Amino acid sequence: MQFRSLAAGCGTYLPARVVTNAELAKTVDTSDEWIRQRTGICERRFAAEGELTSAMGTRAAQGALDMAQTTAGEVDLIVCATSTPDETFPSTATRIQAQLGMERGVAFDVQAVCSGFVYALSIADNYLRLGQATTALVIGAETFSRILDWEDRSTCVLFGDGAGAIVLKAVEATGAEREPGVLSTHLYSDGRHHDALYVDGGPSSTGTVGHLRMEGREVFRHAVVRMSEAIDAALEANGLTPGDIDWLVPHQANLRIIEAMARRLNLPQDRVVVSVDRHANTSAASIPLALHEALKDGRVQRGDLIMMEAMGGGFTWGSALLRW
Ligand code: UT7
Repeated sequence: MQFRSLAAGCGTYLPARVVTNAELAKTVDTSDEWIRQRTGICERRFAAEGELTSAMGTRAAQGALDMAQTTAGEVDLIVCATSTPDETFPSTATRIQAQLGMERGVAFDVQAVCSGFVYALSIADNYLRLGQATTALVIGAETFSRILDWEDRSTCVLFGDGAGAIVLKAVEATGAEREPGVLSTHLYSDGRHHDALYVDGGPSSTGTVGHLRMEGREVFRHAVVRMSEAIDAALEANGLTPGDIDWLVPHQANLRIIEAMARRLNLPQDRVVVSVDRHANTSAASIPLALHEALKDGRVQRGDLIMMEAMGGGFTWGSALLRW
């Protein structure tokens, strides 16, 4: 039998604490006006002390399972995208597995920074297509607030914490037109761009956790070009045109990047799902956080074609095309 991966549910978790631009401007040399104009961000959430990436991932996963009317006992694969794991090891995915009460299956983390969700989705989709798993949790969970340098205004205002997850189920692929499920994923990386976006610490380099460092303008320039290429590859592989896309659910780093992508695709802005204004950049969590909003308020309907794209440190980048 040929399998495809049906998206059966989506869930999220946001920490309770809302931090506005104005609040940040009390301790950082910045302003609400600068942050809004340059990024579209108005506020973000920060995890409470002791609130871990795994706990947020577990809450998001449980929400996705509830929507999918699936129990944790049915899950046999967890792929968790995170760059801010609870600990160096074991993986955050195995902690989530335990917190969900699971006693079987395979769980591991994927590290592709802001592209992490698209990477995790791609891996899970391949497991399901190959018949190596039947029910997968794909999770993006981050606590970027813990790796920000509060002395560096060019980065510390840009990020937030949160988690999102989807449930994928292996179902028979009949080859029928407009069949729901993952149509394709396209992943890329180019390690030559390390210095444009990295964390200056880690177990084997400094023995410390380190802080996020970014050449914002350099990343911006690459983001639009690379993500456009990834979208083009997805459309071409499926014999589709930009006009076939119902919803663009992009990685939420900067409203100007999101708008540039939409213009390039000739997509009206009301077909683009935006949550960067309230969540800021939540790295691997941003796509499922945005998707969940559009599902909850009824914008995304069964059968809609969703284009996801992301770009992050490495550089890594990619796209995923999903019929909900
Ligand atoms: O998720 C991973 C992918 N990441 C991204 O996609 C991020 C991509 N990059 C960006 O989103 C943008 O480049 C930023 C939002 C990071 C920066 O926007 P920009 O328009 O590229 O600004 P800039 O870095 O060129 O800085 C412009 C000015 C500078 O001042 P001068 O040199 O013109 O006097 C900065 O010092 O803005 C200043 N600046 C700030 N001012 C107030 C930088 N950060 C701040 C700040 N508040 N927080």
